[in-house]
Amino acid sequence: MRTLNPARPVAQALAIKDGLILDLGSNEEILGLANEYTRVIDLEGLTLMPGFVDPHTHLIFAGQREFELPMKQSGASYLEILASGGGILNTVRATRNASREELVMAATARLDRMLAFGTTTAEAKSGYGLDKDTELKSLEAIAELAKTHTVELVPTFLGAHAVPEEYKGAPDDYIEFVISDVLPEVAARKLAEFCDIFCEKGVFSVDNSRKLLSAAQKAGLGLRIHSDEIVRLGGTALAVELGAVSASHLMQTSDQEFEGMAERGVIAELLPATPFALMEKEYPRARAMIEAGVPVALSTDLNPNCWTESMQFVIALAAYNMKLHPSEALAAATRNAAFAINRADTVGSLEVGKQADVLVLDAKNHLTIPYHFGVNLIETVIKKGKIVLGEKNLP
Ligand code: NIG
Ligand code: FE
Repeated sequence: MRTLNPARPVAQALAIKDGLILDLGSNEEILGLANEYTRVIDLEGLTLMPGFVDPHTHLIFAGQREFELPMKQSGASYLEILASGGGILNTVRATRNASREELVMAATARLDRMLAFGTTTAEAKSGYGLDKDTELKSLEAIAELAKTHTVELVPTFLGAHAVPEEYKGAPDDYIEFVISDVLPEVAARKLAEFCDIFCEKGVFSVDNSRKLLSAAQKAGLGLRIHSDEIVRLGGTALAVELGAVSASHLMQTSDQEFEGMAERGVIAELLPATPFALMEKEYPRARAMIEAGVPVALSTDLNPNCWTESMQFVIALAAYNMKLHPSEALAAATRNAAFAINRADTVGSLEVGKQADVLVLDAKNHLTIPYHFGVNLIETVIKKGKIVLGEKNLP
C-alpha cells in the first residue's frame, strides 16, 4: 500500500559516501564520521531536500504551440483545438518530421532546465509519433538521453495519445494496430517500462483503454492512464480494475473512484500546471483525495500545451490552488512521485542507503518553498553524490 507521509524535517546534517546517503543526524553525529578526506560543507540557513521526481512528462516533442495561447484566450477549448487538427496532432506532424538527433537536442535543453530547477529523476513519454517509426524513434531518443543526461529517466510508451489523422474516426482500428504492430517491439526491445493512454471523450474509450492496457500488462509493462481530464468516462475505475500504478489529471473523478484508488493504492498524479495553462478555474480535488486516503503525487505534465520544467512552480500551484500543505506538496513531488514510477527504493527521500540526490535551496525552511514563488530557489544540485550544478554557490 502506498501512502502519503507529509515531508518533515529529518535531520540537521547528512553524510554522503559512494553516491549514497551514508547517514543522517545531528551536526555532531555527522561530523564524527568525517576523516581527513571528507569534504565538510556548512549550509547553515539553507534547506536541503531530496531531488524532485517528476513522474509525468511528455519530454519528446518537436516544435511548439505558442500560437494556441491567444486561441485559448478567445475561448477555444482543448478538445476543439484537437478536433480541428491542432493541439497534439500539430505536434505529431512536427515530431514525425524531426530526426532522432533533433528530438534528442530539443529534449536535452528541457532536461538541462529541469535539472536547473531541481528535478533529478523524471518519467518521459513518447506519444507524438502515433506511427510505428516515430514512436520507436521517440523511445530510442529517451534511451539515448537516459545514458547521456544527468537526469535519470523512466520511459513510458504513449502510442495511444491521440487518434492519428490516417485513422480519423477509427480509434478501434488504431488500437488494434498499436497492439499488434508497435507494442510487441516496444516490449521486446525493452524500450519502455510503462504503457499509458489518453482515455477521453473523442479520443480513446474505456473499452479501447482496457484492450491496450491489458495487452501491455501481458507484455510485462506497468500501467498508467490519463483519465477524467475533461469528461468522466470511467478511466480511473479502469486504473483501479487493472491495478495501474497511477492515474493522472483526475479533474472530474468521483468520490467512489477515490475510494477504489485508495484501496488498490493507485497513485493520483496531479498536474495543476495543466488547468493553469488551459485557463481553467477548477483544479483536481486534492483535499478530498487525501482525505479518502489516495496517495497523491505532483508533476509538471511538461508538454507543448503546458510547457514548464519547474516542479517548484507546480508545488506553488498545488499549495495555492489545491490547498496542499507545503509538506504534503513536497512529499507529493518527491517520495510519492518516486512510488509513481517504481523508483521508491532508490530516490525520493533522504534515507540511509538511498541515492544521494540532494538539493540545496535558498530557503529558510520547507514552508518557504511554495511561499517564495516564481523564482528558482535552487543553489546546488547533487546527483548520486556528485555536485552536478551550483558548485560555485557552495561556501
Ligand atoms: O497530459 N491530455 C493529454 N495529453 C497531454 C497534453 C498533450 C498536448 O496537448 O500536446 C496532457 O496534458
Ligand atoms: Fe500528460
